[in-house]
Amino acid sequence: MTRPARATPDSATSEDASRRWWDSDAHSYDEEHGRFLGVDSPGGEFVWCPEGLHEGDARLLGEVAGRDVLEVGCGSAPCARWLATQGARVVGLDVSAVMLARGRRAVAAGSSAAVPALVQAGAEHLPFADAVFDIACSAFGAVPFVADSARVMAEVARVLRPGGRWVFAVNHPVRWIFPDDPGPRGLTASIPYFDRSPYVEVDDDGRVAYVEHHRTIGDRVREIRAAGLILDDIVEPEWPEWLDQEWGQWSPLRGQYFPGTAIFVTHMPA
Ligand SMILES: C[S@@+](CC[C@H](N)C(=O)[O-])C[C@H]1O[C@@H](n2cnc3c(N)ncnc32)[C@H](O)[C@@H]1O
Repeated sequence: MTRPARATPDSATSEDASRRWWDSDAHSYDEEHGRFLGVDSPGGEFVWCPEGLHEGDARLLGEVAGRDVLEVGCGSAPCARWLATQGARVVGLDVSAVMLARGRRAVAAGSSAAVPALVQAGAEHLPFADAVFDIACSAFGAVPFVADSARVMAEVARVLRPGGRWVFAVNHPVRWIFPDDPGPRGLTASIPYFDRSPYVEVDDDGRVAYVEHHRTIGDRVREIRAAGLILDDIVEPEWPEWLDQEWGQWSPLRGQYFPGTAIFVTHMPA
């Protein structure tokens, strides 16, 4: 496991690593987080982040009923299913066939007639025509894992209709400077915020097995603007009093001191 300074995996390498990682990790991700995310709930659930913010309360997507909605990096599709039960026409996209297969099983087991279409593809090359969606969203899907997140912004802008909304949740950029540790060790800054070298894990053959790419807050804002999108808000969910459940490096302890999630709320000009 390394954080090399110079070896930045390109788009193809990052996407290939993500596909293999999420294919092999799908089962344990589901075991660990499926309940919190509502993977088996009859109508799905839309949880934005480990802080437990639910779209039903936050309404960051606005009215979804009757709208064409794309979820980028939908995983096993609890959010896409929830959106479908709210009356949206939903397409969920993910690079991992195993995550999507889990989603299809949940669709088949669910009682709702309103179900999302699930598509396997990488987020840097969306397989859709221009201007076909009213809303696009992503809850930690794809954006932190791609080498070229500016390209994802441009692709989402391309497939949105005028006035369409794009809302995406990622690790809060400030988290980058702390070790991935939910305990006291994770409270001491030790990694330079301005170093864009990605976090990379390699397997025994030296092949990239997992990658997360870092962007500062300013990088994200510039990528949004370069795609022609308008930034409306950056939501930084606070750790709620009711939640004592850790999620990897997310914990009530760290939540007392600094944000774990940033949700960028944007829209296309009308
Ligand atoms: C942390 S999971 C989040 C899944 C889902 N949004 C949720 O809330 O449970 C990240 C998802 O992003 C997907 N992903 C990673 N890189 C991607 C890429 N380049 N294109 C599309 N999906 C990608 C993974 O396969 C995985 O399902």
